[in-house]
Amino acid sequence: MFHTPIVPFARKRSRPVEAAVPRHDVVKFKDVRLYLVERKMGCSRRNFLTQLARSKGFIVDDNLSDEVTHVVSEDSRASSLWKWLKECAPKNLPGVNVLDISWFTDSMREGRPVAVETKHLIQIPLPTEGSPLTPVATVSRYACQRRTTLENHNKKFTDAFEVLAESYEFNNMERPCLAFRRATSVLKSLPCAVRCLGATQDLPCLGQHTKKVIEEVLQCGRSFEVEELLSDERYQTFKLFTSVFGVGPKTAEKWFCRGLRSFSDILTDHSIHLNRMQQSGFLHHGDISRAVSAAEARSLRSVIDGAVHCVTPAATVALTGGFHRGKEFGHDVDFIVTTPELGEEESLLPNVIDELKKQGILLYCNYQASTFDMRKLPNHHFEAMDNFAKCFLILRLESSQVEGGLHCAEGDIRGWRAVRVDLVSPPVDRYAFALLGWTGSRQFERDLRRFAQVERGMILDNHALYDKKKKEFLAASTEKDIFAHLGLEYMEPWQRNA
Ligand code: UTP
Ligand code: MN
Repeated sequence: MFHTPIVPFARKRSRPVEAAVPRHDVVKFKDVRLYLVERKMGCSRRNFLTQLARSKGFIVDDNLSDEVTHVVSEDSRASSLWKWLKECAPKNLPGVNVLDISWFTDSMREGRPVAVETKHLIQIPLPTEGSPLTPVATVSRYACQRRTTLENHNKKFTDAFEVLAESYEFNNMERPCLAFRRATSVLKSLPCAVRCLGATQDLPCLGQHTKKVIEEVLQCGRSFEVEELLSDERYQTFKLFTSVFGVGPKTAEKWFCRGLRSFSDILTDHSIHLNRMQQSGFLHHGDISRAVSAAEARSLRSVIDGAVHCVTPAATVALTGGFHRGKEFGHDVDFIVTTPELGEEESLLPNVIDELKKQGILLYCNYQASTFDMRKLPNHHFEAMDNFAKCFLILRLESSQVEGGLHCAEGDIRGWRAVRVDLVSPPVDRYAFALLGWTGSRQFERDLRRFAQVERGMILDNHALYDKKKKEFLAASTEKDIFAHLGLEYMEPWQRNA
């Protein structure tokens, strides 16, 4: 139930603590076995804390054995503690939490072992080449327990991984695709660059294949497998076709198999029927395939704010997606709109769409009415698409409305560009779940759901959080409420760039 990063060290010579004290405390938490490090703490404080914990139903071992699950130390200087642990613990002990005293005091206050959060962990610094310490995994296997900012120190590896992940996706190979996405996400979360293969030794989610790529990039500055892919006709064609709004890997595959290789191949083939979304995708391809800047996103926010408040003054608009995570560029701009009155959100999007049409800036609209039904929850097979009312739009954005002008091709004198915008409108009591789900990143969301399921026995999606043991839905009006229900340390949107 608790997240247990894998940390090595182990068995220790014993130093019994107050063996004379009679033990008649009732054990309440059988799965948790503490060991308090005497160093820095001192013998008498250790005795006091030991008895305090035992009186609250905790098991506290006098000796460091491989049954210990939580090592607590008052000395939170990672390097000296780890040096000491290494000395007195020659064997590896997987599945032990090495924690500072704050975890202990939190647990005593709550009267139960609180969930281990990253702030409690005494993490060993990432080893550098020639480091005397063995590299150690203190990085969580779950993206939702790693703070991932936009500062990526391992871009040369993650760029390579992303090409491989994409290529597996194009070939419908879900597992290796996900493996490379997970590995990408782990490397993005690291506080510094990986400089030797040894530094990855105990990182989670890195398999043989990913390590081979890392090794190549370290040695040669590039991966041959990736270079080959980048010049591969299938990869290039899929990349081109899927860059069109409305074209996914399945359509790209169909076209590729028919021998089509370029846009003109498609547009001149009269046996091909393009749906409305794809037609708009081709029509506005130049604009839409160009990244949207943060300044453009801000300007669109005023446009959407204006349209929403014009039709429903009490409605709220929130920026979500990549720009809410602080990205400088994105492929679209995502907003959540809702009304304080439950049920009023139903007419919101159709009215907003009408308003945008009236303003003459609606270039494309795909509106999907809500199919949300609380009675159909919990949904065991959630994958990204939710049932809220939403619309996928292409809007015309005027250069004059954007601070510093448009992010446009050089020589473009139109004075406007087309931009992809998504609006979603959940009922207000589902707002926090929708916001959490749409803020992303995709990998962060995947791991939140996986963490909820595997570690907490709960089902999370964009609609709700369901506790399988209690057989009940857990209410939340903010994202913080949801993190708290999951026993997770809160992460700000800008820390969710997994
Ligand atoms: P995006 O695809 O817009 O990604 O989905 P992004 O993170 O904003 O990055 P850009 O746009 O490429 O810069 C935003 C989030 O919304 C969720 C996705 O899972 C992602 O986390 N989403 C999207 C849903 O939950 N449901 C949907 O129907 C679509
Ligand atoms: Mn987006």
